[in-house]
Parts: sequence; C-alpha cells; structure tokens
Amino acid sequence: MNTAPQQRRGSATPRIDLSLELCGLRLAHPILNGSGTFDAIAARRAFGEAVDSRFPFSIFVSKTITPELRAGNPPARLYETPSGLINSIGLPNKGLDGFLAQDLPELTRLPAPLCVSVMAPSREGFAALVEGVGSCDEVAAIELNVSCPNVKSGLIVGEQPAETQALCEALRPLTGKPLIVKLTPNCADPAAVAEAAVSGGADAVSLINTLRATALHPGTLEPWLGAGSGGLSGPAIAAIALDQVRRVAAAVSVPVIGMGGIESGADALAMLSAGATAVAVGTASFRDPLAAERIRLELAAELTGRGLERLPDRPLASTSS
Ligand SMILES: Cc1cc2nc3c(=O)[nH]c(=O)nc-3n(C[C@H](O)[C@H](O)[C@H](O)COP(=O)(O)O)c2cc1C
Repeated sequence: MNTAPQQRRGSATPRIDLSLELCGLRLAHPILNGSGTFDAIAARRAFGEAVDSRFPFSIFVSKTITPELRAGNPPARLYETPSGLINSIGLPNKGLDGFLAQDLPELTRLPAPLCVSVMAPSREGFAALVEGVGSCDEVAAIELNVSCPNVKSGLIVGEQPAETQALCEALRPLTGKPLIVKLTPNCADPAAVAEAAVSGGADAVSLINTLRATALHPGTLEPWLGAGSGGLSGPAIAAIALDQVRRVAAAVSVPVIGMGGIESGADALAMLSAGATAVAVGTASFRDPLAAERIRLELAAELTGRGLERLPDRPLASTSS
C-alpha cells in the first residue's frame, strides 16, 4: 500500500469535526463498512501495519457469521452489471466457534470498535450467536442480519414486521451490547419492519442490504450464478437506498446507518441528508480498498463548503432550510 499521495491529500483535509456518537460509541467519523465487503484480516496479511495506520472505517463490521461453519454457494459467485454487482457468496464463514477462536483475535487488533454481524435460520441459532459474541468484551455491537428464512415459518424474517419484532424481543434480554438490525430492501415496507425492530428493542437499524437479482449467461441463457440468483449492490441501487433510508429515518427515532451504492462524499452527504446518522461503504471498497478514506475526505470538503464545522445533529436537509 503506497501511502505518499494519500498523505499529501490528507494534509489538505478541511478542518471539520466529523465525530459523532452512535449507540453509545464515540466515533471519529461517520464512515463504516458494509458487512462482507472488506476483509480486514486478508488486508492486514497483504498490506501489513499500513492497514492499521490508515484504517478507513470508524467501526469495523464483520462478515456475517452463522452458528455452524458454511462453505458458501457454488461458483460463479459474482456478476458485474452496468453500475452494479450481483453476488451470491452465500455467507461462507467458520461458524461461531471458528470465529471466536480464529477471527476474533485478529479483528480485535483493528484500530476500530468491532461490530459482529450474525445470522441464523432459527431464533435459537440467533440466541446462541448473540450470547456467544455478546459475552466477548472485544465486541462493541452486534448487527442482526435478518435477510434469512426462518426454518419454522419459511418466511424471510426481515420481510415481516411481526417476525422481526419477535426476534428482537427474544434477543434483547440476552445482551447489553447495542443491537443493530440490518434491514432488507426486498419487502413492501422497510419502514414498518424498522419500527417493529425498534419496538422489539433494537438500538439502531442499518440499510440497505442487497436487492434480489438474477443474470443469465448470454450463450446458454442459464443463470450465470451458481446459486441461480443473488443480490445487487453498488451505484445501481443508490437511489433505492436513499429512498428507503429517508422513509425509515422518518419512521424511527433510533440512529439509521445508511448504505447502498455510496461511491463519493456527495453520495455520503445525500445519505446523511436523508436522515442517516452514519453511512457504510460496501461495493466501492472492492475496486479501491481506500475508497472509504477518499469518501470521508470528500464528505469533509462537502460540509466545509456548506460552512459547517461539525456534523449537524439534525438531518442536513433540515439544517439548510
Ligand atoms: C460481495 C458482498 C458480500 C456481502 N456480504 C454481506 C454479509 O455477509 N452480510 C450482510 O449483512 N451484508 C452483506 N453484503 C451487503 C453489504 O453489506 C451492503 O448492505 C450492500 O452491498 C449495499 O451497499 P453497497 O451498494 O455499498 O455495496 C454483501 C455485499 C457484497 C457486495
């Protein structure tokens, strides 16, 4: 990782206080990563200590872990669309025990608080994950990935307000750590699901996860992806993300972490203006692992250009009117 040009750009950073409080955590700035889009352990293996000295996220959100080890989906797992990426990675992970033994010690070394993303096909599975990671001092927060079917009902939890509320109510007593519910965009009314999550005890919500999508092989006309379909991310979903964040932020009083296609400081500013307290960078990090650093610098410049010296408490749109 060559640091020289970035440091020159960094020295011209506008003087602005980007710090904020999120779920009781004091953060240097509002740029997080989207779960599953930045492999901090592999990055440290490739770039060494440079990753720590220029770590671009104020919280690190882990890849989603499940109770048991998962191999993930068969290849192909990625398909590039105009302005987007369809992935069907399928949550490969070491399971709870493997995560605690192997990944947690590595992730704890990062210079940012750790949020662990968890998902299970049953309430009992979620409970085991929340209790397992919740008992670790190194874990600052837990993100519940509810884009999963409940094996008992067959319903995708995050598509159903009642299922989401019941899950949160069951998990809330199991940990004192902040619970962030990661909403799916693949439902009729994400704001109703967000309200249900908050009624169940969620401390914050994050959105959007990927949009269900399919690509066909141009020759065979069979599905390109090994799993048949996947989830779309990147700039292609930015306008949908902005709309859903705006609706959700208007419906709940807890912090909203906005994501979906953020590629620039202007995109981050738009998300904050829509009511997000913080934003997450996902697909952009695949093309440039330091995209989040650039986005933070651009956001600072955008705010400075508007005469602000710190992040406003209220959504930016209402600040300027
Ligand atoms: C390759 C890939 C893997 C992802 N893995 C996860 C995951 O494990 N858990 C999760 O909650 N979201 C996952 N996501 C969704 C992102 O965290 C994010 O919500 C979504 O990509 C939208 O943001 P973006 O357009 O900036 O990428 C993944 C996205 C991509 C592209």
